[in-house]
Parts: sequence; structure tokens; C-alpha cells
Amino acid sequence: MGVLVKTRDWVDERFPLMDTWNKHLAQYYAPKNFNFWYYFGSLALLMLVNQILTGVWLTMNYKPDAELAFASVEFIMRDVEWGWLIRYMHSTGASAFFIVVYLHMFRGLMYGSYRKPRELLWIFGMFIYVALMAEAFMGYLLPWGQMSYWGAQVIISLFGAIPFVGEELALFLRGDFVVSDATLNRFFALHVIALPLVLVALVFVHIVALHKVGSNNPDGVEIKKNKDENGIPLDGIPFHPYYSVKDIVGVIGFLILFCIVMFFAPEMYGYFLEKDNFVPANPFKTPEHIAPLWYFTPFYAILRAVPDKLGGVAAMGAAIVIMFFLPWLDKSPVASIRYRGIIYKAALAIFVISFFVLGWLGMQPATGILTALARVFSVLYFAFFLLMPFYTKMDKTKPVPERVTE
Ligand code: HEM
Repeated sequence: MGVLVKTRDWVDERFPLMDTWNKHLAQYYAPKNFNFWYYFGSLALLMLVNQILTGVWLTMNYKPDAELAFASVEFIMRDVEWGWLIRYMHSTGASAFFIVVYLHMFRGLMYGSYRKPRELLWIFGMFIYVALMAEAFMGYLLPWGQMSYWGAQVIISLFGAIPFVGEELALFLRGDFVVSDATLNRFFALHVIALPLVLVALVFVHIVALHKVGSNNPDGVEIKKNKDENGIPLDGIPFHPYYSVKDIVGVIGFLILFCIVMFFAPEMYGYFLEKDNFVPANPFKTPEHIAPLWYFTPFYAILRAVPDKLGGVAAMGAAIVIMFFLPWLDKSPVASIRYRGIIYKAALAIFVISFFVLGWLGMQPATGILTALARVFSVLYFAFFLLMPFYTKMDKTKPVPERVTE
């Protein structure tokens, strides 16, 4: 026996190494008809690892101090060896992470992946999404540029709109009457330690839940319903090596695109790093135009669409909370878009268009006509969810095959 096998056996007598490998990889059966849309779970994992590793190296030279933070980021960019690369991997990585997660969620909408028995898997996913937004929001304060500062100022002051406790809560979050060194310090602690731990824990339970119920697939057919005499799903193939290899193809394709952006357009024309954030934070000078990064702008547009501050905050919160309830809003007899009727397809298309338009509107100044547009598209956004119990029942669906089709 080779020394490797011996070592493996030694470990295996003391730790369930091969059991885990087999249960979750080599003998874990996934539907054989995964397509392009099934790359994004593994890519989300890749981005999580990227953010954590580059984050650790950034922290080695970053200074969480209002006097030093901005200059320390410039120091990383100009003087630290390979510092520019680590920083761009992290800043481009943040936007790429959201792109991947949005596509991952969209896949869920297309194939009804949130439906029974995957409700909890979806809910863990939603908690990941909320934690990711908090993580990105706090990370954006750290370079201590004008947008960092004023973005945080605007968002934290929103909490002030909550009746009775609002002002106290905003003060508690900031640790001061305005965004200051105290705020920077706590955001640093949360961004670097607390939220990454929460994210990793949530991703772990997300995958535990996934492996309990098994993956959905583009046909929305439960492969566990058709098993051979050994209890192996007829439409399943072992995750390893089939999907481990497929996922590597996805990773290579993704990294090519990622590197093109990171090396040739790391600021992405102001979408991934805003122009105003190359100016140090100045508490005495409000930028003319305050807008969050692109991944928050759909919700920012909804916030501004409501004339009342508290109403706006409530609408923005509701826009996120409502997604948690998706498993119970969908009353369709079929899961996958392949077998749904025209109404669901149209509703999903309108929803996606609304999300993009709101995203664009959230980047523009809130002028009269644009605010009116934001109202229309906010209503469409909510209509997708609130009317779902009705239109999914009315929709004329197609017969679903017994087995997956590819
Ligand atoms: C850090 C972020 C995330 C990571 C690392 C992650 C990881 C994964 C992985 C590895 C899979 C299996 C592969 C795949 O189906 O693509 C998966 C499946 C799934 N994820 Fe996530 N996920 C994340 C965020 C989310 C979010 C935000 C949601 C939704 C709110 C979500 C909902 C789902 C669902 C419903 C499935 C099952 C899909 C199916 O079987 O059709 N995930 N996730």
C-alpha cells in the first residue's frame, strides 16, 4: 500500500473522511440535465473564497482610522507589491459576486427551485443575500472616500425614519451623531470578522439543505421519484467527477471574463468603483449626486419612489422581505418555466425588465419624470410577487414528463 493510501486509512479510522467524500461528492447523485444556469452556485462559492482571501491580504496594509484609511488604500494601490491586484480582485470581486448571485437567484425563478421541498434552501439563500448586502455596504465605507462617507450617511439616517426608536437606532449604528471614526471602526470589525463568519455559516447550511433534498433541474422533475433497484436515481449522475469537471469549465470561462474586467476596466466606467470615491471623505462637503453601487440601485429607486421617508424605507424593506415568501406565493402545478404558460413567462420578463429599469433609475438624479417612472416600475416589481398566487393558478401549463428530457 502506498503511503498516501495508508495515511488516508489512518485518518479514516479516526474521522469520516471517505464517508463524507462519497456521501457528498463521489456518490452524491445530481440530475444529469444541469445546464448553463447551474454554474452559478459553484461560482458564488469561488467568489466567497476570493473575497475572503483577498480581504485577508488587504487587511495586512489597510488602516481602519478616519485619518489614515484613504491614504492606506492609496498606499496599497501604489506601494505595496501586487497591492493593486489584490485590491482590484476584491473590488471587482464584490461586483462579480453580486452578478453571480443575481444569476443564481434568477435560475431559481426560472426553474421553480424555491418550491417544496426546497423552501428552507431558498430561505437560507435569502439570508445569504441579506448578509451579503450588509457585507458590501460596510466594506464600501472602508476606503473612506466621498461616496463611502455620504452613502453611509444617507443609508444610516434612513433608520431615523422609524417611529419612536429610529433616532436612537441610527445613533447606535453610527456610534456618533454623524458618520465618523467610530463608525469606520465598527464597520471594519463587522466587515472583516463578523459578517464573513455569518456568510460562511449560512453557505454551509445552504449546502447542507441542498444535499438533504437534492438539486432541482431545468425540467423541474424530482429525480428521486425514479430510482433503480439499488436506490440510485435513474436520472442522476455522481457529482464527482461529472459535475466537478463541468464546474471547472465554468470557473475557467468565468475567470477569463473576470480578468478582462479586472485588468482592463477595474472601475467599469464608475459602476464598480465610483468616481467620487477617489476623493477623500469630507464631512463638510456633500457630493452633488449620491448613488450607491449598481447592485443596490433597484432598491434605492424603490426607496426614492415613495414620497414619504418612512414609507420609502418600508417599501425598500418590503421589496427584499417579499422574496422570502416566494415558495408560498407560487401556486402553479409545475415548477419549471419549460412547462409553464405564457402568463408566468410574461410576468417573469416584466419583473426582470422592472429590476433593470429600477437599477438604472437608482443611478439617476430623482427628477420629476424619472420619479414617476420609478413609481410605475416599483408597482410592477411588487405586482410580480403579490399577484403571483392568482396568475400562477390561471396560467395554462403543459404536461410535465415523468423523467428529465436530456
Ligand atoms: C454566497 C452565496 C451563495 C452560494 C455560495 C451558494 C451556493 C450554492 C450551490 C453550490 C448550489 C448548488 C449548485 C447550483 O445549484 O448552482 C446552490 C443551489 C441553490 N441556491 Fe445557492 N448559493 C448562494 C446564494 C444563494 C441565494 C442568494 C439564493 C436565493 C435567495 C440561493 C438559492 C439557491 C437554490 C434555490 C438552490 C437550488 C437550485 C436548484 O437545485 O435548482 N443561493 N447554491
